[in-house]
Amino acid sequence: MSRKLKRAGLIFAATALSHAAAHAEAGFDASRRVFRLDGGDVTYAFKIDGAGLLQSVYWGSRLAAADPIDAPQARALSGFDVAANVVPQEYAGWGGGIFTEPALKVAWPDGNRDLVLHYVSHRLSRDGVSITLRDIQRPLTVTLNYVIDRGTGIIGRSATIANDGRTDVRVDQAMAATYVLPVGSDYRLHFLTGRWGSEWTRQERPVSAGATVLESRRGSTGSENNPWFAISQDGRSTETDGPVWFGALAWSGSFRISVDRDVAGRPRVTGGFNPFDFAYRLKPGERLETPIFYAGHAEAGMGEASRLMHRFALEHIVPRKGELPALRKVLYNSWEATEFAVDEAGQMRLAERAARIGVERFVMDDGWFGARNNDHAGLGDWTVNPSKFPNGLAPLISKVRSLGMDFGLWVEPEMVNADSNLYRAHPDWIINFAGRPRTEGRNQYVLNLARIDVRDHLLKQLDALLTNNDIRFLKWDYNRNWSEPGWPAADPADQQKLYVDYVRNLYWILAELRRRHPDVEIESCSGGGGRVDLGIMALTDQVWASDNTDPVDRLQIQDGFTQAYAPGLMMAWVTDSPNWVNKRATPLSFRFLSSMQGGLGIGTNLNKWTEEDFATAQRYVGVYKRIRETVQHGNLYRITRPSPDNATSTTLYVARDKAQAALFALTQGTHQLEPRAPIRLLGLDPNARYAIESMDGTPLGDGAPAVATGAYWMGRGIDIRLQGDFQGAGYILSRQR
Ligand code: DGJ
Repeated sequence: MSRKLKRAGLIFAATALSHAAAHAEAGFDASRRVFRLDGGDVTYAFKIDGAGLLQSVYWGSRLAAADPIDAPQARALSGFDVAANVVPQEYAGWGGGIFTEPALKVAWPDGNRDLVLHYVSHRLSRDGVSITLRDIQRPLTVTLNYVIDRGTGIIGRSATIANDGRTDVRVDQAMAATYVLPVGSDYRLHFLTGRWGSEWTRQERPVSAGATVLESRRGSTGSENNPWFAISQDGRSTETDGPVWFGALAWSGSFRISVDRDVAGRPRVTGGFNPFDFAYRLKPGERLETPIFYAGHAEAGMGEASRLMHRFALEHIVPRKGELPALRKVLYNSWEATEFAVDEAGQMRLAERAARIGVERFVMDDGWFGARNNDHAGLGDWTVNPSKFPNGLAPLISKVRSLGMDFGLWVEPEMVNADSNLYRAHPDWIINFAGRPRTEGRNQYVLNLARIDVRDHLLKQLDALLTNNDIRFLKWDYNRNWSEPGWPAADPADQQKLYVDYVRNLYWILAELRRRHPDVEIESCSGGGGRVDLGIMALTDQVWASDNTDPVDRLQIQDGFTQAYAPGLMMAWVTDSPNWVNKRATPLSFRFLSSMQGGLGIGTNLNKWTEEDFATAQRYVGVYKRIRETVQHGNLYRITRPSPDNATSTTLYVARDKAQAALFALTQGTHQLEPRAPIRLLGLDPNARYAIESMDGTPLGDGAPAVATGAYWMGRGIDIRLQGDFQGAGYILSRQR
């Protein structure tokens, strides 16, 4: 054993002994050459195998500190599957005869593409370890970073690839990590699919030989697949029970997560940059850092997996000044009311009405700048349209402020219309292939943020907007995907760096704006939920889940969204009825009960409201403010999930300290005289006494108690009578002293 390993062994002994007292989470057992991370209810272990490859050993429920974790040396299965292909490698270079999904694939100028990564050294920290691997012959180094969260047991993994040689290396595939599950034949993969106006559908299929590939080739996250997965076990895992392995990639560009079952029967999940059309040249001394691929394990079903993800995002991903992010303000947004027809008088009128119902943030959407009267012109010119706002934004902003609200503004900084001053001045600033046609999407092009001049220009424009106006919120939109992904100004060998550098510069602009304007909050919107991932969430305060604001469709969209991401980060608007998407007419109360399950927004044309509508809205906004901390930061329990043919949904939000719970029951329609089962709650303190009240004053069914223990509400449950179409009910349970 090398002296280095012996030294590391001493460190392991120290951390293992002190585990209970100091909550040390990472260790190395030098005798078995096993690394071990413990956090929450999870243990994760991997080892240096006999050949020097890094091999996955265990990922599952937490083991005792003294448990001996190890795995046998993997052997060749046959001449077709050499040992390297059978070893469940933590981070496999493509070489040495592997056919599984590699983590890293490179090419040297002399034609060599064989890469075999062996362990060199490691450095332990309290909650993680970084491991250096190197090719068996060539000077290419990979540093793997592992960190485990002591609260949730969620692991963050990423890799840095460094060219230590004297020639260029082309990276053709760079993934953040491979996660390996125990051998089994009964796994089911859950994933999220969608398209514009119809995001966040949870799908499932068996994990089998033959990969399932979740990906975006669009340049941004996209809504076709979200970079999230969960794997349950048939017959064992349900919403409330059984093991689930889950994860999400923190990247807002083209990504790929492939899920496969290897020849030895282990599911392997590999995620990172999408290798499709990927190439990243590393000159001598250069490095490439992958995004972080987070993953966790739950023993109490899909519900627990979601709650762990929610907690992790709130505590560790999204911007926050304290332990948790600030509560989302109730906002009003003008888009569905006015579309592009915004002007000073019209917006002031809407602001007055919004203030009446308790709105805290007034957001003016598209149409306020340049020659923006429709979606054919103006993008790129971020100066106020003088005919709509002859005195600039100041009078509107001060009106909004005087009404007790803060002011927010829509921008779409990454885009340009051909009919704009910016495009006329800089036609070379967009993503394009020289001399090829430029495809428009929504009459606009994508600016090439990988260019430093474009990046700096955007920062300057946005900084000026925020410096010169009392703006507290930006809705940052992004309404098309890439075409002709070229970067003619760059060396041809570097043009595909666009996929990485664009996103890194987007993150840089967001980070710099936040640094310069710490009181401004930002929403990530991409024509709906097209750019929602843990990467953008680290730099924005909330996201827009979908342009589809029909409250029935929303129940399903929200169910899908919250599989992966916290309800408090998802904005949900109450809009006009009939809804523009599908002409479905629904009662205002139903629309509120649907939208109150996220960050509440109002997007109706308030000029059309009756006094009764204002009274209804005032009541629900008031209730929402009482329960929003529970909804936004609490624990979500899905009691009935909506299905495509019947969007009946029952969801319960329980405060972190269990002092309050908010129950929402909505049905698209009741059928025949089907008796309804009582709704049995979850997650309450069984010994505490909770009083129940209806959110809108509707009395409970006959004989229902006004106060009972948590055990009663969870055991006996609540009878709710819903009859007819688009009916909903909401209840608040408050713990009694
Ligand atoms: C797409 C967004 O999702 C909408 O809410 C709205 O902001 C429009 N863009 C404006 O063009």
